[in-house]
Amino acid sequence: MTTETTSEYLMDSADPDERARLRAIEDAYDPGTLRHLAALGVREGSRVLVAGVGAGSFLPWLSEAVGATGSVLATDIDTRHAAPVADQYENVEVRHHDFLSEDFPGGQFDVVHGRLILIHFPQRDEIIARLAAALKPGGTLLVEDYDWGSCGPAFPSADATAAEELSAKLAPYYREHGFDPYVGRKLPGLLRRAGLVDVDAEGRVLTLRGASSTLAPIYTKSHEQLVARPDARGLISEEETAAFLRRMADLEFDMTGQTMMAAWGRRAGAEAGA
Ligand SMILES: C[S@@+](CC[C@H](N)C(=O)[O-])C[C@H]1O[C@@H](n2cnc3c(N)ncnc32)[C@H](O)[C@@H]1O
Repeated sequence: MTTETTSEYLMDSADPDERARLRAIEDAYDPGTLRHLAALGVREGSRVLVAGVGAGSFLPWLSEAVGATGSVLATDIDTRHAAPVADQYENVEVRHHDFLSEDFPGGQFDVVHGRLILIHFPQRDEIIARLAAALKPGGTLLVEDYDWGSCGPAFPSADATAAEELSAKLAPYYREHGFDPYVGRKLPGLLRRAGLVDVDAEGRVLTLRGASSTLAPIYTKSHEQLVARPDARGLISEEETAAFLRRMADLEFDMTGQTMMAAWGRRAGAEAGA
């Protein structure tokens, strides 16, 4: 592995609030992720790779599940958030790695996982090919990413119109940065295209109910980082941001969030779990 960095990632790992944003993502989506990891066969002795690990909330769970005879390799282009967690576990290693330019150790892992690492990058096929190549024959890849198709306000209102107008305004900016808001529904096809077999998928959708929701902190912190980007200056007015923040704190503003699509597939060549 090299230390070269090529990233078009829109978020800023050095932002003082980034750990809190990653934690909010984990609070929202870890329960489903852990259910999938257990069902896909993470067990005593497993070798697990977590790519783009973020803040590493489920590393303790993985450490316990694979035990002393297994191991976990967690990688990220910026390891500052996961390293303090991994340091507490002998069977967990955190390594700097750029999945846009570097291969993972090949053919070594029983289970490989990546969540919210594909939506940002047009090089989705290459990233999935790299993840798949890291699997042992019979090993399983689990990727999870958003599909924005389910996203939208529940009831018509002035706030709902403002929310839809804001999304429409941001869409071209996201697209110009390689973002694919519908990558979630494409995951099974992308896994098949990478040669994986026994591919299947399942989506989960959380609802936004203003400040009571696990989604509000994710949306708020992501919005704050986005409007702070130099190339996004002027895109969203201060009034629009103020109205957005009011909606995020409004217990009466209901909307459904993105679908977190989980898709999995197996590398052929051995029976699952063999
Ligand atoms: C949206 S966060 C998701 C974090 C974690 N997977 C989760 O779902 O909680 C995306 C992660 O990918 C990492 N990342 C961005 N570009 C990367 C690259 N080129 N190579 C490796 N990791 C990268 C970021 O540093 C960040 O930790």
